Amino acid sequence: MTYETDSAASAKLAGTSTLDVSRIRTDFPVLGRMVNGHRLVYLDNAATSQKPKSVIDAHSEYYSRFNANIHRGLHTLAEEATSAYEDTRKHVANFIGGVDSREIIFTNGTTEAINLVAQTWGEQNIGPGDEILITEMEHHANLVPWLVLSQKKQAVLKRIPLTGEGRLDLGNLDNLISDRTKLVAISHMSNVLGTINPVKHIGEVSHSYGALVLIDGAQATPHMPINVKDLGADLYTFSAHKMLGPTGVGVLWGRADLLEAMPPFNTGGEMIREVHFDRVSFNELPHKFEAGTPNIAGVVAFDRALTYLEELGMENVRQHEIELSGYAIKRLLEIDGIEIQGPLDPQLRGGAISFTDATLHPHDISTFLDSKGIAIRAGHHCAQPLMRTMGKLATARASLYIYNDKDDIDVLVQALREMRRYFGL
Ligand code: ALA
Repeated sequence: MTYETDSAASAKLAGTSTLDVSRIRTDFPVLGRMVNGHRLVYLDNAATSQKPKSVIDAHSEYYSRFNANIHRGLHTLAEEATSAYEDTRKHVANFIGGVDSREIIFTNGTTEAINLVAQTWGEQNIGPGDEILITEMEHHANLVPWLVLSQKKQAVLKRIPLTGEGRLDLGNLDNLISDRTKLVAISHMSNVLGTINPVKHIGEVSHSYGALVLIDGAQATPHMPINVKDLGADLYTFSAHKMLGPTGVGVLWGRADLLEAMPPFNTGGEMIREVHFDRVSFNELPHKFEAGTPNIAGVVAFDRALTYLEELGMENVRQHEIELSGYAIKRLLEIDGIEIQGPLDPQLRGGAISFTDATLHPHDISTFLDSKGIAIRAGHHCAQPLMRTMGKLATARASLYIYNDKDDIDVLVQALREMRRYFGL
């Protein structure tokens, strides 16, 4: 199931409270701490999520019980570590729609996954005059690799513009895609605007011109059910740390035929089949793309993050965020001087809510909120071209997850009102 157009499914779920947030909160040790004399209200989930105890314990258990290198040793610890690492790969494959686990490549994050594609498939397939299509809302991770590649190969980087509401303006899509388009690289959900993009529709149009479709799912995968095949993606990327997992683990999913045809990325140990002083042959998928010793502990612990989310149910996670985003948007708009960027309808967006104050700089907002124990992000959010398009230098951004509730939003709103009084507004 996809959410970008499926309002019927969302409507069916509307109005139900789907997550037991008070119980969930007890699983996250950091949420028990005080910050600057106040209960921590963590609203910076688009930057990274907090981790449940099960993930923290799995990380520690790997080091205290079966730390060993993988795919190399014949001893018990090496076999246990290898099997835990490969179990996570199978788990990830199931989590994104039951794909072949050979198609799951572990990277150190979304950024590396996209760079991998740019530096392998891109090197091989992009030439002078070819076109790559992105959108105006891309994070630098899904922009800079394509900009650098286009400049190197004398290719053309095009972009889908935005509507005033912060959605993609697809009115001109047929003129932006042509037989020259080799790749369409788009975010599934904007880290700034929260917008959920109609990636399936864009994918269908792209495929009709023979272009490949890469979807940056860093913001979507933690927050909604993902089925990469149903979305019509050729390549899909995301990061563990935004979905309860450890930092330093990312995923590139790609169609096996595509990955098999791509040259290797990093070279060295583990990605080879046979090495001589004058020639080398490469390993099969997925190992061809995993040179060197990976983040074994991180991958092993990521398994528990997936289990945690599955036990909640990704449909329920999505529904919780529709409700909470709707509440947050309504409450924020009650405050004089506050403007929200991106769609206001929670069915069209996720829980990354960017806002600005008519007078105060986002950095001042963030600093004031921190003094009240509230963590948000302020700045350009690694999307400088988007900021220029919006005519902003920066925004403040509150981003929600499974352990946030209406109380957190009320605390945020009260602090923002206090801030405006403090500054005499
Ligand atoms: N991409 C992350 C964010 O939007 C770091 O904050």
